Amino acid sequence: MAFERTYNMIKPDGVRNRHVGDIISRIERVGLTIERMELTMVTPEQAAENYREHEGKPFYEGLISYITSGPVVKMVVSGENAVATMRKLMGATNCAQAAPGTIRGDFGLTVDENVIHGSDSVESAEREIAVFFGA
Ligand code: RTP
Ligand code: MG
Repeated sequence: MAFERTYNMIKPDGVRNRHVGDIISRIERVGLTIERMELTMVTPEQAAENYREHEGKPFYEGLISYITSGPVVKMVVSGENAVATMRKLMGATNCAQAAPGTIRGDFGLTVDENVIHGSDSVESAEREIAVFFGA
């Protein structure tokens, strides 16, 4: 067992399509805790910092314009195995492959607009929390 913090973000399509309440319900239902939460825009600087590993890839420019295209809900979520548990709730990166019952499987259709972000490790989580909420 490992108590962890993770960074999650309901992306602009998830907010625009009114899935915020349902996604929050799923996080609470599994037993994780929402420690911080804010509806806000992602700045171009935050987008570039968060997705720096993808710089130069063919989908990078589209990814940056999508994530800055409208309000997001950014969150710090904590609990036992929070990183992996959130990734399990989210489902596969590409909504077309995400299983039914997962957030991406239920609320999205493509890889370009895939509803939610979740950190892929404890190290990424701490970096991303600093980028989006400050130190
Ligand atoms: P995320 O970081 O958003 O939680 O998603 P992830 O770990 O499952 O996927 P990652 O490989 O980190 O990719 C980050 C985001 O880039 C977009 N993407 N588009 N068109 C494409 O081939 C493609 N591949 C990745 C997705 O929005 C993905 O969430
Ligand atoms: Mg990722």
